[in-house]
Amino acid sequence: MPQYFPPNANAFARWTVYGGILFVVLLAVSLTVFARTTNNRVRVPVEQPIAFQHSLHAGELGIDCRYCHSSVEVAAAANIPPTETCMTCHSQIRVGTPQLAGVYASWENEMPIRWNRVHDLADFVYFNHSAHIGSGVGCSSCHGRVDQMDGIWKAEEMSMGWCLECHRAPEKFLRPRSEVFNLAYEPPADQLALGHELVETYHINTEKLPQCSTCHR
Ligand code: HEC
Ligand code: HEC
Ligand code: HEC
Ligand code: HEC
Ligand code: HEC
Repeated sequence: MPQYFPPNANAFARWTVYGGILFVVLLAVSLTVFARTTNNRVRVPVEQPIAFQHSLHAGELGIDCRYCHSSVEVAAAANIPPTETCMTCHSQIRVGTPQLAGVYASWENEMPIRWNRVHDLADFVYFNHSAHIGSGVGCSSCHGRVDQMDGIWKAEEMSMGWCLECHRAPEKFLRPRSEVFNLAYEPPADQLALGHELVETYHINTEKLPQCSTCHR
């Protein structure tokens, strides 16, 4: 058989294979690091295409969370409002201000505004808004005083340890359903008594709450 390859071809082939493996490993590591660092940090404002202020809309103007996040009570995920929702007011209010240019561009071009995500749990964790809202867990227990935020950021770590703090002892945090959307709500002095009562009233299965399969299914 004639020699098509020079004598060092085997070594070359070997290095190509090892190099390839090394490349894949480095890629995996850097993607993991990238994912961790872009997983929005706590209390660090997330940049957005439009300087929308909850402090103005939900705070000063007192617009209810559900006006914009209309699915939060009935679905697993809360929705981010479409441009249409902004236009119910901004087709008349402050038309032509540069701060709203992005809203009008989106409306005219029929292109949704590309809001950056603030919260993003890993895909192997199940979460459901409506279950929490219906059981007397307030928005502010998890998201903080959104109605005072000029920008938007994650108020809590949203780690497993953090979720479990409540799932192991929900009575410390529950409030009457009527107070879920009241971000200024302060727990009463007898929170534990109230909490135990609400666990009963809302039929909360405290045994199931800390089990792995509740959140990982
Ligand atoms: C007038 C519409 C409007 C109202 C009212 C409103 N929001 Fe929002 N919300 C938005 C928009 C738009 C975003 C997209 C990102 C931003 O804030 O810049 C958002 C983002 C959020 C996020 C972050 C979402 C993510 O990407 O993880 C949370 C949490 C949130 N809102 C909570 C609330 C709560 C709690 C209330 C009620 C106190 C509320 N919002 C009232 C429009 C609204
Ligand atoms: C229920 C009515 C209402 C809705 C819905 C609403 N806004 Fe507003 N928005 C207002 C009012 C009122 C002001 C304050 C006007 C003023 O200061 O004179 C305002 C102000 C703003 C400003 C500041 C404008 C400036 O001149 O500085 C921005 C930006 C803004 N809104 C974005 C949004 C976006 C984005 C949405 C949709 C997610 C939205 N708004 C939905 C009523 C609304
Ligand atoms: C028990 C904690 C908890 C409560 C209570 C809660 N949230 Fe959330 N919220 C989360 C978590 C966790 C995420 C991220 C979900 C994901 O990434 O799958 C989130 C995400 C969001 C988002 C982004 C869209 C989405 O669903 O991913 C919005 C908007 C939001 N929440 C609004 C609200 C509003 C409004 C309330 C009150 C009515 C509320 N949340 C109550 C924990 C909570
Ligand atoms: C402040 C309290 C509190 C926090 C924080 C909290 N939860 Fe819950 N969670 C509850 C309560 C109370 C229930 C019980 C709902 C019921 O049984 O009706 C619940 C139920 C659930 C369920 C079951 C929903 C269903 O459809 O049966 C899941 C899944 C869940 N929580 C995931 C999470 C995750 C993930 C986090 C953290 C990101 C979290 N929770 C943080 C109080 C909390
Ligand atoms: C109340 C909800 C909840 C319960 C109950 C729960 N987990 Fe988790 N788990 C989470 C969340 C939230 C994360 C973090 C996801 C993220 O970082 O985005 C997580 C992450 C993990 C991870 C990945 C490693 C890490 O720390 O990020 C493993 C493994 C895990 N959980 C195993 C378990 C086991 C085993 C149990 C039962 C003993 C359990 N979980 C119970 C919510 C829960």
